[in-house]
Amino acid sequence: MVATATAMRPGRWRRAWEAIDERLGLSGLAYPVPAHANGIGYILGGITFLGFLILAATGIWLAQFYHATPATARDSVVYIMNVAPLGDLVRGIHFWVSNIVMATVLLHMGRVFVTGSYKRPREANWLCGLGLLGVTLGLVFTGTVLKWDQEGFEALNHNVEIGDFLGAFGFWFSSDFTTSLPILGRLYMAHIVILPGIGVLLLLSHFLLVKRHGISARPAEADAAQAGGPVPATGGSTFAAHIVRMVGFGFLLFAAGTILTLILPAGLGERPIPGTETTKPPWMFLPFYPFEDWFGLSALFWAPVILFGALVLVPFLDRSPYRSPGRRRVFVAIGTIVAVAAVALVVYAMITVPEAHIQEAM
Ligand code: HEM
Repeated sequence: MVATATAMRPGRWRRAWEAIDERLGLSGLAYPVPAHANGIGYILGGITFLGFLILAATGIWLAQFYHATPATARDSVVYIMNVAPLGDLVRGIHFWVSNIVMATVLLHMGRVFVTGSYKRPREANWLCGLGLLGVTLGLVFTGTVLKWDQEGFEALNHNVEIGDFLGAFGFWFSSDFTTSLPILGRLYMAHIVILPGIGVLLLLSHFLLVKRHGISARPAEADAAQAGGPVPATGGSTFAAHIVRMVGFGFLLFAAGTILTLILPAGLGERPIPGTETTKPPWMFLPFYPFEDWFGLSALFWAPVILFGALVLVPFLDRSPYRSPGRRRVFVAIGTIVAVAAVALVVYAMITVPEAHIQEAM
């Protein structure tokens, strides 16, 4: 009798899991999601999120040694590279993962665009995503300045000049905003507090909206349903399985960052020489770089504003109920032209010699 009761009792692991689940409700994460949510195209946002977690962890380590004043910033980076425990490795992973994350954000946006997933009811989430794109670019930009080498210094000079160009609206970007803290200190605050804070709020909204609407069906299935065909399946996998896959990709991302660091350690340029312009911005800003050569500094403000404005309008202009690229030829053609032009501008910017634009040394 006693033996039968023991045999019927759940095992130790089972009981431990039930005790944890009773308190944390983790089994609630096993709700159904469509199988295609685990395909690479539909998990790019999740990979990006895991990348942000790696950046937060490595960034916290770097912040233990970084010192944000013009006189000490570059030396503290040299300290990180040569003295701080694992400093060089952690800095390299932070650098490389930030580059990979930038690529996965763009690919994620490309997937959403090509599959028309910004259409009703997901217009608000497209706008939220654009906010996240802005935050990501802001993080890369401020991170570049923090190194306080020639590249960082020139990036800051452009920041200040655009602040001047914006007049009263650019007050925060101006070094005259306050004399009590160098602008480098404020950009550091933007890098570790303001932008991550805005990013977390946007991410929460982004994820809540994905949960609310569910992941979009495959375009062909969605279009078939529009034409009176079967309603696309909402199951096939679970969100818990999706998280496991996302975490797997997170490990791959970490491994890629580590291997890249070992092969190509993150560099640090020379001490900045005020009044000279010898560097080019990181690759994600290069599509805008030639505009500055052609039309002057104001183009560095207007080109991204026009591009972002056009992206904002996308879900409100592409109003047909269809999502397959073949049924949205005009929009897909415009998107392809913009993407190809951006790549061509990057290549052009890479092969041209840096031109001096800065009016005065800081
Ligand atoms: C920068 C960080 C971003 C993160 C961490 C992120 C994360 C995610 C995640 C996890 C999903 C669920 C499905 C998937 O992975 O594809 C998603 C969906 C979505 N994202 Fe993002 N995203 C980001 C940026 C963007 C951008 C730049 C856009 C577009 C401007 C965007 C627009 C959308 C839309 C519309 C959906 C719903 C797609 C669907 O239902 O098929 N996201 N995002």
